[in-house]
Amino acid sequence: MRHLLIIIAVAFGVVSLSSCEDPKEYVGPDGKESGEIIYQKTCFLCHGEYGDEGNSGAANLRTSLLSEEDMIDAVKHGRGEMRPVSALNDDQVKLVVDYVRNELKKKAKK
Ligand code: HEC
Repeated sequence: MRHLLIIIAVAFGVVSLSSCEDPKEYVGPDGKESGEIIYQKTCFLCHGEYGDEGNSGAANLRTSLLSEEDMIDAVKHGRGEMRPVSALNDDQVKLVVDYVRNELKKKAKK
């Protein structure tokens, strides 16, 4: 019986480790995944802090007229010169697109 419990515990550990590479990677201080953190870790490099940096020809996200659906599609499947950001799951894509649409565009430039 004891052995069985250990086997179950080990199996669970392996499953939870492999299903999510690093669950804390995009988690903010409140313990929840944050669109802002996802943006900083995965979009910042090309789009810049305010979305208008345009590194490697990146589109200006502050003035983008794309619908929410098209933005989600751009992240998941790529768009023009932008390659798909495949490291994100559907929830994370939604979070980062919400961030771009609702916060990044309004973020005051310093
Ligand atoms: C390696 C650089 C790179 C990274 C990383 C990157 N992008 Fe892009 N992105 C681009 C380029 C280049 C374009 C312009 C594509 C074109 O029009 O040919 C673009 C275009 C877009 C567009 C289309 C905007 C428009 O109006 O046409 C959206 C939306 C977008 N990116 C969102 C994101 C988000 C959100 C992330 C992070 C999850 C991200 N991008 C990460 C380079 C990048």
